[in-house]
Amino acid sequence: MTLVKPRLFGVIGNPVAHSLSPVMHNAAFRALGIDAFFGAFAVADLKTAMAGMRALGIKGFSVTIPHKIEVMDYLDEVDETACRIGAVNTVVNRNGRLYGSNTDAPGALNALREKIDPGGCRALVVGAGGAARALVYGLVQAGAEVVVCNRSREKGRRLASDFGVEEVGRDSLDRFKCDILINTTPVGMFPSTGRMPVPESLLRPGMVVMDIVYNPLRTCLLNVAAARRAETVDGLGMFIGQGALQFELWTGVRAPVAIMRRAVLEVLENKEKENA
Ligand code: ATR
Repeated sequence: MTLVKPRLFGVIGNPVAHSLSPVMHNAAFRALGIDAFFGAFAVADLKTAMAGMRALGIKGFSVTIPHKIEVMDYLDEVDETACRIGAVNTVVNRNGRLYGSNTDAPGALNALREKIDPGGCRALVVGAGGAARALVYGLVQAGAEVVVCNRSREKGRRLASDFGVEEVGRDSLDRFKCDILINTTPVGMFPSTGRMPVPESLLRPGMVVMDIVYNPLRTCLLNVAAARRAETVDGLGMFIGQGALQFELWTGVRAPVAIMRRAVLEVLENKEKENA
């Protein structure tokens, strides 16, 4: 009898019941004929979960809210991108040593690069949470001139000063000019789908507008931006981008991005039908 040794992966967070990572990664494993399974683990006790990862030989974890920062305490090594962002979203188990990375920034930048090269562009990042941190870091690395705008100005100023970029108040956005706009706040998310994170006057022809909200996929921001002849990048851009890079770190194989996107899109479309 041959021993079957499927490789195990998963997402750890709390809650994770609605995570789309299992759908995305299992579709990729299936498409490439890789004998692996990706599960969702709701984890309250992170320390024990990380010991379990070592003990069980789980090959890789995707890390989500609320563990992205604390997980760094349980790793053997953290790469430079994750250190600079101050958060880990990917753990790779290499023969019992745990390595932490952050694919949120390069994943989002890859999605953005499908529409524009951010180098030399002026980019406005709305929000100052974990996603904003990753995006500001990625944009600065890519050579963009970044400006942060957040509801609570103090938090926005802190993020801006951490990365040596500018900060602007919401009251001056009416007259603000930029080539790239990225919404990292939940504004526009179901059920408040009619809300916009910035004034319409900011949206101009030719600029690129990216939203990290993917419920719904066509947010009010993206619809208005498209109507005003701006290019748009939907919320699946960053999600699939970071997932594709995770998949490559874990398997060493190029991620089947189109298949991953289609699998996630199918689930989202069914959800939107339920919400309608
Ligand atoms: P994440 O880590 O996913 O980015 P987060 O840390 O909770 O999430 O950050 C959410 C960001 O969205 C914050 O910058 C928050 O602004 P505050 O710092 O003022 O709280 C912003 N945000 C959340 N709800 C918002 C709303 N209704 N209008 C404007 N900004 C909002």
